[in-house]
Amino acid sequence: MLRGLKLRDARRTDKQAVLDFCKNTWRDYGDFIPHVWDEWIRQRRGRLIVAELKGRPIGIAKITDFGNGEIWLEGLRVDRRYRRKGVAGAINKEVLRTLRRIKPRRVRFCTGQTNRASRRIGRSYGFEAIARFRYYWQRTRKGKVKGEIATLTDLPAVYDFVTSSRFIKLASGLIAEGWVFREFSRRLLRNYIKAGKVLVMRGDAEIRGVAIYPLEKSENGITLGFVDGDERAIKILARNCMYLGFQCGKDYCSVVVPSRFFPKLIEEAGYKRKESAGQVVMEYRGKALV
Ligand SMILES: CC(C)(COP(=O)(O)OP(=O)(O)OC[C@H]1O[C@@H](n2cnc3c(N)ncnc32)[C@H](O)[C@@H]1OP(=O)(O)O)[C@@H](O)C(=O)NCCC(=O)NCCS
Repeated sequence: MLRGLKLRDARRTDKQAVLDFCKNTWRDYGDFIPHVWDEWIRQRRGRLIVAELKGRPIGIAKITDFGNGEIWLEGLRVDRRYRRKGVAGAINKEVLRTLRRIKPRRVRFCTGQTNRASRRIGRSYGFEAIARFRYYWQRTRKGKVKGEIATLTDLPAVYDFVTSSRFIKLASGLIAEGWVFREFSRRLLRNYIKAGKVLVMRGDAEIRGVAIYPLEKSENGITLGFVDGDERAIKILARNCMYLGFQCGKDYCSVVVPSRFFPKLIEEAGYKRKESAGQVVMEYRGKALV
């Protein structure tokens, strides 16, 4: 490990130095840290950790606490000039120390299918892949949104629909908010319904399809985080995402679906394979936290 490396809570004054080294984390994209920094620094639950060398931040990691023992890890970054020197390793040890205090029920993170470094680090700390998804991004466009906005009266039927769906089985019980994945629960569904983010398509008697369109905080845009139903309904609900994004004045929207069965339908609905990426959700299965 680098001599003199310190690990501490992030401060507001770290912002510029952190955003500077996050500028080109990914070629052609940059990074989402600038979109979330202010919210991350405000959050009371969880922790935003900074690795500091000679008074300058050179790495970060975020522990997000969704409540009910559900922890999400995100935003592990190390300044390019200090990589392969054990900085991420030191940050992760601090993350584990913090988690031992929180005593979570579940800890997860998501990474790109092609991000070998991230998955390797995860595995070395006791994480295993539990679900794979495909993330599509697409320009929004004008169009008619089809389906009805669900109300709290629909909650029981929509809850049953989602919990018995193919999507939720393939997704190991998770639904997506872009690159963040959360356990589907009645409480989460209630929040999405109250926020007007659930659409239902009805047949004569029963539900033909359901979709949930949460906010993708890292992009400040709309994402399709759950969709299921008959094939026609899935395509219609997927296309809705472009139209909803347009209505909200966004340039881009995203769609996240399990990597099996769904991608074919999503691509038939107009999303392009070449504008997509594989995602892997890793869950902690080690013994160091119990
Ligand atoms: C991933 C990242 C945080 C690693 O930071 P780092 O400080 O260089 O990592 P460490 O030096 O602690 O390396 C720990 C181990 O990770 C693995 N690793 C790190 N970089 C790697 C790479 N480019 N390819 C393969 N394995 C890698 C190795 O097993 C390494 O151990 P070793 O150096 O003894 O072989 C850094 O490369 C980064 O900021 N990447 C961009 C953002 C990112 O991908 N974040 C991951 C969350 S999505």
